[in-house]
Amino acid sequence: EMEVTEHFAGIALPGHLHTQESLHAAAAFQFRAGDVVVATYPKSGTTWMQEILTLMYSKGDGQLAKTVPNWARAPWLEHIYFKDMMQAGREPRIITTHLPCHVLAPALKKAKAKVIYVARNPKDIVVSFYHFHKMAKFLPEPSSFEDFLMQFLNGTVQYGSWFDHVEGWLSQRSELDLFYITYEDLHREPRLGHPFLGCALRPEEVSAIQQHSSFSAMQKNAMVNYTLVSCDILDHSKGQFMRKGRTEGSRGGGLPSSQITPRPRQLCSLRPRSAPLCRPG
Ligand code: PPS
Repeated sequence: EMEVTEHFAGIALPGHLHTQESLHAAAAFQFRAGDVVVATYPKSGTTWMQEILTLMYSKGDGQLAKTVPNWARAPWLEHIYFKDMMQAGREPRIITTHLPCHVLAPALKKAKAKVIYVARNPKDIVVSFYHFHKMAKFLPEPSSFEDFLMQFLNGTVQYGSWFDHVEGWLSQRSELDLFYITYEDLHREPRLGHPFLGCALRPEEVSAIQQHSSFSAMQKNAMVNYTLVSCDILDHSKGQFMRKGRTEGSRGGGLPSSQITPRPRQLCSLRPRSAPLCRPG
């Protein structure tokens, strides 16, 4: 029963976290202008971006990041517990989603909500996702890496095709108030002071954020390393959520954004069209 699958918008999703009701509620959700939505295909750096944003809005103070789980600070829109989590009342609201763009684009446009799309080299995603399938009891056990790779390439894994996900979100780049960044960028140059992301951070705040959101710090932080999740759901003897945190598929160097997207021509240099996420003062 742990492996029940829900079908929605042409993709399969784990029934442990989603119901038709929670998915339809997500599609009908009314965003607000101040909302910050983290959109990702799984294993692309979701948790890392959730942590960075929490720390940015706390000006580098690790208190919130060390006391509240990431899924309560930046809940997944489509999950069954979303409504309960959103009652915390923090501003701006940070909302996470793995859903395809076409489901949410009209509502995001209407509200002029901010979207941060994080993409990652698919070679690393497929490895990370494979290991996660071994731990996560709500995902089907892969028979072999080769089989899993074929399913990933065919887009028949849960959460659907990586190619469609990235292409869907990036195709709406000029329609949405969208900031595009890659996992590899986060490794190399996280652009914490970027006007779209930035809250007019001081250099010491930037270094505090970098330190609290480093792989080693996050690996030790129970609020983000998923060790709070019971063994019935995540078998911690089979692996760690914070597994390696590296860019292996690109031989350690990391690929520039333009090389990991289906349509490089869409990747003109980023020009923020919007006010900063929060204004100084
Ligand atoms: S999920 O399940 O979709 O929410 O997973 P997601 O958070 O998107 O991706 C998990 C991978 O991100 C790595 N990770 C990090 N890498 C570097 N630095 C930091 N701070 C960091 N935090 C999380 C995590 O280790 C998973 O990647 P792999 O390759 O499996 O290690």
